[in-house]
Amino acid sequence: MKTEVLPFSPEAIAEAARLIVGGAPVAVPTETVYGLAADATSGEAVATIYAAKGRPSFNPLIVHVPDVATARKLADLPEAALRVADRFWPGPLTIVAPLRPDAGIASLVTAGLPTVALRVPAHPAMQALLRASGRPLAAPSANASGTISPTRVDHVLRSLNGKIPLIVDAGQCPIGLESTIVAIEAATIRLLRPGPIAFQTLAEVAGLPIGSSSAAIEAPGQLEQHYAPSKPVRLGAEAARDGEWLIGFGEIEGDASLSPRGDLIEAAARLFDLLHQADSSPARAIAIARVPDDGLGVAINDRLRRAAA
Ligand code: TXA
Ligand code: MG
Repeated sequence: MKTEVLPFSPEAIAEAARLIVGGAPVAVPTETVYGLAADATSGEAVATIYAAKGRPSFNPLIVHVPDVATARKLADLPEAALRVADRFWPGPLTIVAPLRPDAGIASLVTAGLPTVALRVPAHPAMQALLRASGRPLAAPSANASGTISPTRVDHVLRSLNGKIPLIVDAGQCPIGLESTIVAIEAATIRLLRPGPIAFQTLAEVAGLPIGSSSAAIEAPGQLEQHYAPSKPVRLGAEAARDGEWLIGFGEIEGDASLSPRGDLIEAAARLFDLLHQADSSPARAIAIARVPDDGLGVAINDRLRRAAA
C-alpha cells in the first residue's frame, strides 16, 4: 500500500472522510499527537488500526467526537463530568464514563468494557474530519506499538509508511503530549493518565473528591482494566466438551465463529461480542478454537490468554 501525505485542506479532509466511511484508517493531527483514526461504529474498521500498528494487545481506545452533545449520546456523563467538559472541551482531556447501551460503538473499541473514553479534540483537522465523516472516531496515537508519540508527519511515516492509505499533514502538534485521562463517577474522580491538564484543576472543577485508585498512579498501559468472562475458558479447542459453548474459527464451526473464512480482521472485530455472548449463554464453560499466532492473531491470542487466566 502507498501512504499518501496530503496537506490539511478541504480536499484532504474529503478524501480522509471517504476512506473512513469505507472502513480504512487515516492518520490525522490533534492538538496533542497524531491519531490513527477509524470509524468507531465498525469493528472491522477498528481492527485495521491494530493491523497497521502491530499492537500486540487490544487496549480500549479513545473515541473522538465533535462536541459535548455527541458525547452525551455515547456515554452517561454525570453532572460533574459535564462541568469538566464545559470548561475543557474541546481540548486535551479524555473522560471515561459508562457507555450507553444504544451508543453503537464497536466492542473492540472498548475492549469489551462497559465504559468508554471520550474526547472532543480542538485541532481543526480532527474537527473537520469528525464533521465530514459524521462518525465517532476511535484513534490511538499514530505510531507503531512501543515507539515514541508522533507529533510530526515524519514520526508517523517512520512506523506506518506503507501500512495506511493517508496521512493528513498539519505540521507539528501544538501540545505534543497525550491527553489527560480521568474517570468520573457519580461521587469520585480518578486520574487514569497524567497529561496537559493538571489533575488537581480537574478535581476542583468537578467538585469531587479524588477516588482511591489514583493513589497509585501507574504508567499508561499498565492501568488498563480488562474485560474477563466469568466462566472457565479453554483455549485451542477442536470440539466442544460437555457443557461448553464453543467459539469457532476457520474450519472449527462452534456455536458461533470468530471468522468462518479464517480472516483475522473479522475475528478481531467479533472477539468481544462473542466472549460476551458465550459468557451470557446457559453453558457452564467456554471453549475457543485455535487462532493462528501471527499478524492480528498475536493481539487476539493475548486477549484470549487473559480471558483464560
Ligand atoms: O491525546 C490522546 O489522548 C491521543 C490522541 C490521538 O487523541 N490518543 C491516545 O490514545 O493517546 P491511546 O490509545 O494511545 O491511549 C488511550 C488510553 C489507554 O491508556 C487506555 O487504556 C485508556 O486510554 N482507555 C481507553 N478507554 C478506557 C476505558 N474505558 N477505561 C479505562 N481506560 C481507558
Ligand atoms: Mg499511545
